[in-house]
Amino acid sequence: MLLRGGRLGAIDREVLEFISSREADSWIFEADLLVDRAHLVMLKDRGLIKAEEFATIVGALDQLFAEGEEALGEGEDVHEAIEACVIARAGQVGGRMHTGRSRNDEVATCIRLALREQLLGLMEELNMLAATLVDRAGKNTDTLIPGFTHLQHAQPTTLAHHLLAHADALLRDQSRLEDAYRRVNLSPLGAAAFASTGFEIDRDQTCRLLGFDGLLENSMDAVSSRDFVLEVLAHLSILMVNLSRMAEEIILWSTSEFAYLEIDDLFASTSSIMPQKKNPDTAELVRGKTGSVLGGLISALTICKALPLSYNRDLQEVTPHLWRSVSLVRGAVRIMDGCVSSLRFNTSRLEESAGAGFSTATELADSLVRKTGIPFRTAHQIVGRIAATNTSPTLEELDAAGEDVARIRPSAMGYSRDDLARALNPRSNVALRSRPGGPAPAETGRMVAQRLEMLAQRRAGVRERREKASRALQALREIR
Ligand code: ARG
Repeated sequence: MLLRGGRLGAIDREVLEFISSREADSWIFEADLLVDRAHLVMLKDRGLIKAEEFATIVGALDQLFAEGEEALGEGEDVHEAIEACVIARAGQVGGRMHTGRSRNDEVATCIRLALREQLLGLMEELNMLAATLVDRAGKNTDTLIPGFTHLQHAQPTTLAHHLLAHADALLRDQSRLEDAYRRVNLSPLGAAAFASTGFEIDRDQTCRLLGFDGLLENSMDAVSSRDFVLEVLAHLSILMVNLSRMAEEIILWSTSEFAYLEIDDLFASTSSIMPQKKNPDTAELVRGKTGSVLGGLISALTICKALPLSYNRDLQEVTPHLWRSVSLVRGAVRIMDGCVSSLRFNTSRLEESAGAGFSTATELADSLVRKTGIPFRTAHQIVGRIAATNTSPTLEELDAAGEDVARIRPSAMGYSRDDLARALNPRSNVALRSRPGGPAPAETGRMVAQRLEMLAQRRAGVRERREKASRALQALREIR
């Protein structure tokens, strides 16, 4: 144990296990090797270590990189274990690696580096899922479906309109992550324990070498803040809530009561006892894992809420929630993409149900206003009077209700049988709703085209960030 035997005596196994972060540190093993390397390059360039010392230490790091994490020995965290391994292989000189830094700035840098990579991957996957939704919307601008409020039939709409609503929510999730990336991709390195260092290090150089966009400047803030983690967990939570709502609809719509869609066998499971069963387990687990991600956010917030400045070991307890959530969310996004792209919609059943439950009642009231000039509230009362007992009124019944409610006869005020037929037709209901954001085929078609363009830009943006980061890391790996 590298850090014992100075101030402190030997450590007990149970205590070591209690304070260890080794399990979660697997996520930052490679990041730590890169951070070590960037720091060493800077130490060498600043004349704080000699070129031969640099070469020896970097040689040990490269060997460790090739062998992988399993080559590490004991240590309460990956930083200590790597340093111990470097010293074991490079000799005493390996002890120069930790000049002018601390595990506090080291771990914060590693988390940011590893998280950056995860965010890029997630943004790509989210773009794919949004593209799948937009793509399927583009093919279903004419597919009528029932629209619901309170889970009761409300008004007819289209499958395109519905799928685009989910896509837009995910596009907002994606832009929240893009925004968070700007605050994640900053370098705390050089803050040391919290007070920076008296060695003449170059923080800008390590920042550049690691492909960060800038410094997390104040050295106290740099080691003690985890709001970047909280922010990402909050965005992941919102994203999961959006996915969970999609999952819930897939579950509901695949029941025999709804029978609006069938999920592909690949995304279903069966029962160990009921041979006929086809269960939407993947969607259920997206819904279930949402609970775990929300719990991760609350745990992380709670761990951070009463911490005095600057670094406290409690912070170590935050990180596993981040990694667990990142991996749950990325898995959920990929599964949803596969599941949504292979859904089979029962379009005839959807169209048939689009007009069910007198879902054209709003348009009937609207058309009365447009044709006869009566106030909307009066029209609402007339149609409401009919709706209690009848979902497909004749013109005579409409007149009777008009007499009853407001002493008017719509047919005597220019309202024709044709007007009534059009108002009761779900397809013309949809065609009429052509204002921005409405379900009319031309309007959803426009939205699809606009979203596709937006997705292309988002993809290019992620690619650019990825290239910048990997160019820097590639160059760093090549410094000998
Ligand atoms: N494993 C620690 C963490 O995740 C690294 C920093 C340890 N720093 C310390 N002063 N003990 O936070």
